[in-house]
Amino acid sequence: MLLTDKVVIVTGAGGGLGAGIARVCSREGANVLVADIRGDAAQALAESLPCPALGLGVACDVGDDDAQARLVEQAVAHFGRIDGLVNNAGINFAKPFLDTTEAEWERIIRVDLRAVFFLSQKVCRQMLAQSQPGGSIVNISSVHSQAALPGAGPYDAAKGGVVAMGKSLAVELAPLGIRVNAISPGLLNTQIWQDIQDAAPSAEECLAYWKSNIPIGRVIETEEIGELAAFLLSPRSSSITGANIFADGGMTAQLISKEPYLSKALEGK
Ligand SMILES: NC(=O)c1ccc[n+]([C@@H]2O[C@H](COP(=O)([O-])OP(=O)(O)OC[C@H]3O[C@@H](n4cnc5c(N)ncnc54)[C@H](O)[C@@H]3O)[C@@H](O)[C@H]2O)c1
Repeated sequence: MLLTDKVVIVTGAGGGLGAGIARVCSREGANVLVADIRGDAAQALAESLPCPALGLGVACDVGDDDAQARLVEQAVAHFGRIDGLVNNAGINFAKPFLDTTEAEWERIIRVDLRAVFFLSQKVCRQMLAQSQPGGSIVNISSVHSQAALPGAGPYDAAKGGVVAMGKSLAVELAPLGIRVNAISPGLLNTQIWQDIQDAAPSAEECLAYWKSNIPIGRVIETEEIGELAAFLLSPRSSSITGANIFADGGMTAQLISKEPYLSKALEGK
């Protein structure tokens, strides 16, 4: 197993992607602290982990500095140390640029970017104070760190910022034995995918459209991202730091969707 005896905090793990990451970390032998603004969801998820005896679910709003400090204290009080942090908690956001308010900008940046910086800071201070200093941090960014959609300014700024900031932390913390990496998922099989399908004129059209935009022809399962996160948290990825790994089924590698025209062979004359 990749994470035997490791202590890993996963934020926003009461549902969606974070739950998938927490499940894989647990399966790989980690003690998993499941943190979520919805404390009941965090506790339920912790109790349903493959190794529930090694799990703990707590309420934590990562946008609140005091709650971040309490989270670190709870991890140390319960497990004795922290080896890994997955900054997964995030708020999706789409609204036209001209209508976006200052309060909305502040809210998205606070949770999707600022919280990643200051929770990482608190966790790193703990990692460096331990008898065997070191650790691994995984920040969940998005394909939005590479390419944009209309109306996603605050979200894209946060997700791009997470990657840029992560590189700075990676080079600063490498001599201290802490690695920092980002994962940029494409479209995941979470509530968002359900919402997209519900809003589409027909299920067939919706599937055809997205298949044409995702070269592997399907959305990504949360535990596929969990496998990557577990690898990045483990010593098996010891040479990797400062990376932003796209787990998007080829979405950002594709220049343009083939639909509605099927591609033909083209030959220069
Ligand atoms: N779903 C996708 O297609 C997709 C793609 C790329 C990146 N992401 C990123 O993955 C992460 C998880 O997304 P998701 O789709 O699972 O979202 P989700 O809304 O399904 O789940 C997010 C979880 O985070 C929790 N949460 C929200 N605000 C919080 C806060 N302030 N403090 C603590 N917990 C909080 C929610 O309660 C929820 O359990 C986000 O960072 C998102 O930007 C998602």
